[in-house]
Amino acid sequence: MPAAPAPRPRTVLVTGAARRLGRAIALHLAGAGWQVAVHYRSSQQDALDTVAACAALGPASAHFAADFEDEAAARALLPRVLEHFGAVDAVVNSASLFEHDDVHTFSYPALARHLASNTGAPIVLAQALHAHLLARAEAGEAEAQGVVVNLLDQKLWNQNPDFLSYTLSKAALEAAGTMLALALAPRCRVVGVAPGLTLTSHLLSQERFAQLHALSPLGRSSTPEDIASAVRFALDNRALTGTTLLVDGGQHLMRFERDFSLM
Ligand SMILES: NC(=O)c1ccc[n+]([C@@H]2O[C@H](COP(=O)([O-])OP(=O)(O)OC[C@H]3O[C@@H](n4cnc5c(N)ncnc54)[C@H](OP(=O)(O)O)[C@@H]3O)[C@@H](O)[C@H]2O)c1
Repeated sequence: MPAAPAPRPRTVLVTGAARRLGRAIALHLAGAGWQVAVHYRSSQQDALDTVAACAALGPASAHFAADFEDEAAARALLPRVLEHFGAVDAVVNSASLFEHDDVHTFSYPALARHLASNTGAPIVLAQALHAHLLARAEAGEAEAQGVVVNLLDQKLWNQNPDFLSYTLSKAALEAAGTMLALALAPRCRVVGVAPGLTLTSHLLSQERFAQLHALSPLGRSSTPEDIASAVRFALDNRALTGTTLLVDGGQHLMRFERDFSLM
């Protein structure tokens, strides 16, 4: 009797996966047996490196460029991933525009760019994943179910005046999580993961980053591995939808007057 065909590996699109947290999430999921579609905007060489590192850990990966300020590019992304892999089971929305503004420098264009990248693209990708899951169900895969994980930010629960447009775009994404969880059930779950201060930036010295990272009830904020394992938990736990995991050492329970990068 011929052997049964091997089951298809689950496929996840991780946006912003060339570098930093998105890359850590991609590698963690590859190590857990996921086939990873690595999305990037401009970091092509880093995306190629992430694909190679994923391939060393798990099933085949591939890279896909798209600028989410362009709606047509955001809409075309999931169909391109489907064309390559044949099926997609999950989307992790980690890509994010993070440019400083506050009430004094706020402008419509800055808000529009953050909303397009950080809110619009995750919604368009959830919409496309849901349509794909419906098509699979209609084609006979009665149990087809998918997951969207949205990377949020502990600062939504602990607001300060910095990064006004970024924070508004993440607040809108958090609200969209509730609406999408209702609208896309039962085919598609939607879960938020909200990191605390996890990686430093050019705005913070290593020494200052270490001091701020320790500022939390648990004495440490989150590491990339903490965030990646929370994403994996959200992908695997079939009872989670319409909720957010705050993975931040409890930073959201404290009050900070400024964004970490400006403290
Ligand atoms: N890092 C932290 O400590 C921290 C704390 C709280 C929340 N978070 C959240 O966790 C997620 C990952 O954080 P991170 O620090 O890894 O993010 P990041 O470095 O600020 O950005 C990740 C990637 O997003 C991509 N991106 C930016 N604008 C884009 C656009 N218009 N279209 C497509 N891609 C775009 C960039 O890709 P290219 O490089 O290819 O251009 C970038 O490498 C974000 O959603 C962030 O809000 C992070």
